[in-house]
Amino acid sequence: MDEPNVYELIGEEGFARLVGAFYRQVPKDDILSKMYPPDDLHGAEERLRDFLIGRFGGPQRYIERRGHPRLRARHMPFSIDQAARDRWVALMDNAFAEAALPAEAEGFLREFLSQMATFMINQA
Ligand code: HEM
Repeated sequence: MDEPNVYELIGEEGFARLVGAFYRQVPKDDILSKMYPPDDLHGAEERLRDFLIGRFGGPQRYIERRGHPRLRARHMPFSIDQAARDRWVALMDNAFAEAALPAEAEGFLREFLSQMATFMINQA
């Protein structure tokens, strides 16, 4: 399947809705709240949003600000086991339900995020 231009389909606003709905759940989550910086959740939200926007056809703000993503290396300081990965994906599932994106965009993003989440596992 060719990759759809998700940015054209959902725009900045679609990514903002999805990532906003994800981060709203983080402070209440018993696993993830211990990993994310409590005083910079807003910054973390912006980093994930800008990364996805750039990856899916929009402006390259993430790379301009943070350089090459090297996401697996950047996640090494956090211990990500299967349970943490599954929780991250579960919160993202809730966020998809809330954001109600067009089906083609949602299907593609879900697949990408779930595979990338598995790739971030760095602890047995
Ligand atoms: C597998 C479960 C995951 C966990 C537990 C996790 C956790 C974290 C944590 C704690 C941070 C630091 C927050 C910050 O200050 O930015 C972070 C950063 C980030 N994560 Fe994840 N993450 C996961 C999966 C993913 C996936 C699947 C993606 C995207 C494909 C992703 C993209 C990012 C990005 C772009 C950053 C900012 C990196 C930077 O510029 O420093 N993460 N993640």
